[in-house]
Amino acid sequence: MNRHLMLNETEQSFFQNELKAISGKVEQCLDSWLPTLQSQHGDRVLECMRYSTFAGGKRLRPALVLAASRLGRYEGEGAYWVGSAMEMIHTYSLMQDDLPSLDNDDLRRGRPTAHKQYDEATAILASDGLQTGAYELLTCERVHKDPLVRLEIIRLFARSSGAIGMVLGQMVDMQWEWDKPTNLRVDDLARMNYLKTGMNITACCEAGVVLAAAAHEPNHDLRLRMVRFGDAIGRAFQVYDDVLDVVGTAEVLGKTPGKDAKAGKTTFVSLLGLEGAQKRAVEECERALAEIQDFGPEAELLRLIARYCVTRDK
Ligand code: IPE
Ligand code: IPE
Ligand code: MG
Ligand code: MG
Ligand code: MG
Repeated sequence: MNRHLMLNETEQSFFQNELKAISGKVEQCLDSWLPTLQSQHGDRVLECMRYSTFAGGKRLRPALVLAASRLGRYEGEGAYWVGSAMEMIHTYSLMQDDLPSLDNDDLRRGRPTAHKQYDEATAILASDGLQTGAYELLTCERVHKDPLVRLEIIRLFARSSGAIGMVLGQMVDMQWEWDKPTNLRVDDLARMNYLKTGMNITACCEAGVVLAAAAHEPNHDLRLRMVRFGDAIGRAFQVYDDVLDVVGTAEVLGKTPGKDAKAGKTTFVSLLGLEGAQKRAVEECERALAEIQDFGPEAELLRLIARYCVTRDK
């Protein structure tokens, strides 16, 4: 079904090398940023923040910031800082997603979840620390020398992860789990997924272009393209997350599979079947690829990320 989107050996090794280099840089950024938040009595909360941050996430969102910035011929270090900030926001969202009052998960990124390793109070406070720390980081000059660019990225991320973005998507997801509505359609699910996952992914793509635009000229067409690209891969990504919940194993995924069905959740797989959901992910991925087909080699990393989103095993 998604065979034509699979990465061949050369693409695979190029992609893995790129992702490894980006993760390495992002981890250096995070490692140097987190201790600056040190406080006198903050050892436990900081330890928990580090525990969840350095647990081997794919770092796909920072890769998107960087890949999108390449389309605008941006070459600065700011993309790694911006990617790191989103990774902190993403990690905080996972810590909360795993809490007993939300998905009640024991395993994340191949380790016990934060509240299992520490306790609920610490996990909640550490996730707060990551979220606020991300915004503090985004105010720093190392992100971009122009404060207006920094402000624009802060606005983008606050919006995509807030009460009309990820937080709302998570709320809708929970309400459906509690109420178990029987009349949900694919479009309802697509909207919820766009909110809980897609908006942050889109914001990463936009942020890459925002960083680049200030260095050259504002490019509204490129930004719009990145919004459409991000929208499509954000959808593809969450559809495939639902697929992986069914076909994945705990060893590879690093999180407990089969949770959605067990919780009686309406997912793309429950509505469309496994094949239907895979087909839907492929269609969204192709929509993303079409958005960037006019670009040359500078868009290669973005293309590979899009294909990886619907062919990954974790
Ligand atoms: C998992 O995100 C949560 C979703 C939004 C579906 P990722 O699959 O990117 O998780 P990590 O960061 O690699 O652990
Ligand atoms: C969570 O979606 C998305 C977030 C905003 C954190 P899921 O609940 O499907 O994520 P996993 O499967 O636990 O990673
Ligand atoms: Mg969830
Ligand atoms: Mg979950
Ligand atoms: Mg999931």
